[in-house]
Amino acid sequence: MGTSNQPHIVWHEASVSKEERQKRNRLKSCVVWFTGLSGSGKSTLANALDRKLFEEGIHSYVLDGDNIRHGLNAGLGFSEEDRKENIRRIGEVAKLFVDAGVVTSTAFISPFREDRDKVRGILDDGEFIEVYVRCPLETCEKRDPKGLYKKARSGAIPEFTGISSPYEEPVNPELIIDTDQLTVEEAVEKIYAYLHAQESGK
Ligand code: ADX
Repeated sequence: MGTSNQPHIVWHEASVSKEERQKRNRLKSCVVWFTGLSGSGKSTLANALDRKLFEEGIHSYVLDGDNIRHGLNAGLGFSEEDRKENIRRIGEVAKLFVDAGVVTSTAFISPFREDRDKVRGILDDGEFIEVYVRCPLETCEKRDPKGLYKKARSGAIPEFTGISSPYEEPVNPELIIDTDQLTVEEAVEKIYAYLHAQESGK
């Protein structure tokens, strides 16, 4: 587990351990960039997709918002400037993973369109697959898996996305996943099918 000076960050266990990976690509490396509100299901989907890819023998990895903020980006907060820097660094790391041949899923709110587009811009065509994890704010707030919306409403967390800080929806994402309508399995199938269709289209 990493360390964090951010009190509202929760560590996620990766669905596939390093040891498992070490013991053992049929899919061209790319970034599956999940974006959406906190509690929309980004980490859940990224980890479920990662598990499926791993089971298929495909070299894959997840870069997760909360986990990266424990290590690489431990010094960054949630001001607009820090969020931009967060996404910039993740974009660079994701690019390195793509260079390493890894199908890389990223799970960051990444609220600003411009920042997501910049990441798209540093990757080659077809390497950036933007997945809008769409879920109404009310549903995310009802789920509130980390209790953060409650704290944000009470004013204990400033600049909270969807409450007191903006989220800019993707304009033309490769995929939209409505997590209040699809099961995790259905969502993963949809993304998996997209990745394979891309592969066979080449
Ligand atoms: S991003 O906006 O810079 O892309 P990132 O995905 O890394 O955000 O981190 C979001 C996670 O940090 C949320 O899922 C939540 O657990 C936690 N968090 C803590 N404070 C905030 C805040 N003010 N706004 C949004 N998320 C926050």
